[in-house]
Amino acid sequence: MTILITAGPTYERIDPVRFIGNYSSGKMGLALAAECASRGMEVSLVLGPVTIQSPVFNNPHIHITRVESAQQMFDAAAHIFPHCHAAILCAAVADFTPVSVASQKIKREGDELVLRLKPTRDIAAHLGTMKRTDQVLAGFALETNDEQTNAQSKLNRKNLDFIVLNSMNDANATFGYDTNKITIIDHFGSNAYPLKPKTQCAKDIVDKLLITAKNKLKTK
Ligand code: C5P
Repeated sequence: MTILITAGPTYERIDPVRFIGNYSSGKMGLALAAECASRGMEVSLVLGPVTIQSPVFNNPHIHITRVESAQQMFDAAAHIFPHCHAAILCAAVADFTPVSVASQKIKREGDELVLRLKPTRDIAAHLGTMKRTDQVLAGFALETNDEQTNAQSKLNRKNLDFIVLNSMNDANATFGYDTNKITIIDHFGSNAYPLKPKTQCAKDIVDKLLITAKNKLKTK
């Protein structure tokens, strides 16, 4: 089985020395890549700019494409997905990027600086339109409010098979932590898991992925 995983943040350049980014560490995506490889899958990992070290970087079954921006992640993911049986989109992709990148460092002058931003393309939604009936597509939803409703709406809007919800309101979960508290939602219901190490969450997510793939094969 071959799988695409997106992980980490994206950086959107403002000028040669500055960017707009987010606090994603990449830990959840790296744990997923390691778990998939340990179950015999060939993993294509499209990885944003992370700073942590991981054994994943030396695993011969994990093929890494390093990217910086949302557009680069989009191009890599759209290129790789048709060759995969499944994808888990774990990356925290920037929703907006500067309209233009200054060629020289922006100087401190005036009372305020206005940055014009344009929306990035939604990788998950695009892969959702490309998805074949034999492919499994899973996404993440990191929410601060109306968690279930927002996750459910993303599941449908992006044509995902299931979505992994995590909330910024849970202690010791999400960005930067080694633990996470997830709820997996599919088109039939949802399953809430207790707080666990991200390596254990990865096992639960890959179990769900394999069950979903099996069910798809049965209904074909
Ligand atoms: O940003 P949002 O909450 O809509 O993202 C939820 C899911 O969509 C995640 O799986 C994330 O990786 C994916 N996403 C993406 N491309 C974007 C924005 C989000 O693949 N531009």
